[in-house]
Parts: sequence; structure tokens; C-alpha cells
Amino acid sequence: MRKPIIAGNWKLNKSPKETAEFVAGVKGKLADPAKVEAVIGAPAVDLQTLLDAAKGTDLKVASENSYFEDAGAYTGETSPKVLAEMGVDYGIIGHSERRGYFHETDEDINKKAHALLRNGVTPIICCGESLETRQAGKVAEWVSGQVKAALKGLTAGQVGSLIIAYEPIWAIGTGETASPEQAQEVCKLIRQTVADLYDQKTADSLRIQYGGSMKPANVKELMAQPDIDGGLVGGASLQPDSFLELVHYQD
Ligand code: G3P
Repeated sequence: MRKPIIAGNWKLNKSPKETAEFVAGVKGKLADPAKVEAVIGAPAVDLQTLLDAAKGTDLKVASENSYFEDAGAYTGETSPKVLAEMGVDYGIIGHSERRGYFHETDEDINKKAHALLRNGVTPIICCGESLETRQAGKVAEWVSGQVKAALKGLTAGQVGSLIIAYEPIWAIGTGETASPEQAQEVCKLIRQTVADLYDQKTADSLRIQYGGSMKPANVKELMAQPDIDGGLVGGASLQPDSFLELVHYQD
């Protein structure tokens, strides 16, 4: 049984002060951690504040990006080794905004996945197609290609423990959420791609999130899909109340 996971991705939002205020707003109000995992991904400058504020709560912490080297002459990057030492639980990598704005390649993301796993941080590997790719009928080819490239060289055990987030680019920040059927179709494809690359046990162990305008109004129907194990949420994760509504989707 895959434990559901609702993760926020704050992107470039919130100061350390606002981070502490957010945690104060959710402290003691999260859902039963045995039923759902609650995670917040925050900018690197907020992570220590988030970790400190989350101490004693069931809130887990994710970075939004990290490099594929632990140290060295890489100005401005974030070390996966240091993230692990800080106690960060998850590392979001390969977000479409990183791929688009910062020209990250499938190879970069594969190296980042290896580096996070080497340091004991669980990757959340993002994938997803553009509207043009969907309109061209090339979703399966595109997404399966991203998944294969991202997982290159990883063991079955590593893949079974990580998370893949399917985030159709056309649904991110637009309010145009994928239908449950659309999201299920691609998440099922991702799981089948992993089954073909490794084995069914690994594919069944992997957790797959949907991201792209997931809101309290649609979380239940998305999470009801058999191959959707969680959400990776931008806008609706920024306020305590909406994040709590998402985390309590089973209530
Ligand atoms: O990583 C999650 C993000 O891309 C989704 O953003 O605002 O559409 O929930 P949003």
C-alpha cells in the first residue's frame, strides 16, 4: 500500500519569517501521518527555518532544487550533501520551470537524482508535457522518455523508494487542471514505464504525484485515481488553510 503524499512547492515565495508563520498556522492541524504524508518544499533560504519550525510536527521538508555535486566551484548551487545533513527529507528536481527557464536537461536531472539518493534524500522527479506536445498526440512518447532518462543507472530499490511527479506544463499555474482521467492515464503510463524498465514490484512501490492546479475543490477526485498517490501543489500550498484542506482530503 503506497502512503498518500501531499507536497507543497512554494517556488520563489515566502521569507523565513513567512515560513515560520505558515508552520504556526498548520501546527497541530495536520492529518494523521499514518494516513497521509504532508510535505512543504521551500526556497533554499527558508529551509533551515522550515526545519526548525517543523520540529515536533509531522510536517516533512523538501528542497526545490539541488546540484549533482556535493561541493565545489558551483556558485549559487545547493549541495545535496548539506541538504541531507540539515535533515531535508525530499528533494524536488526537474521541475518544468527549471527545465524551461534554466535549461536543465534530462541528463542533469538524472545526475541530480543520483546525487540525492547518494546522500539519503528522496528525490521527487518532475515530468510532464507542454500543450503543444499534448495537441500533437505525443504525450506517452514525451513523458516515458523523460522518465527513462531520469532513472538511468538507478537500482530497482532506489526507484521503488522515490517519487515521480507528473505535472502537465499546461496545467501549472493556469487553473486548467488535468481531468482525473487525463491525469490517471499518464500516471498509469509512468508506472508501466517503470514496470517495463525494472519489474512490477518496483513499479507498484513507486509513488506518483499529480501536479498542476490541484486545489481543495479537485483533490479528492484526483486522489481517487488508482495510479495517483499524491499531489505536488503550487498555489494552493501557500496558505495554511488551503494546504490543510488538501492534506485532509480523506476526511
Ligand atoms: O510543482 C507544483 C507546481 O508546478 C504546481 O503549481 O500552482 O499549478 O499548483 P500549481
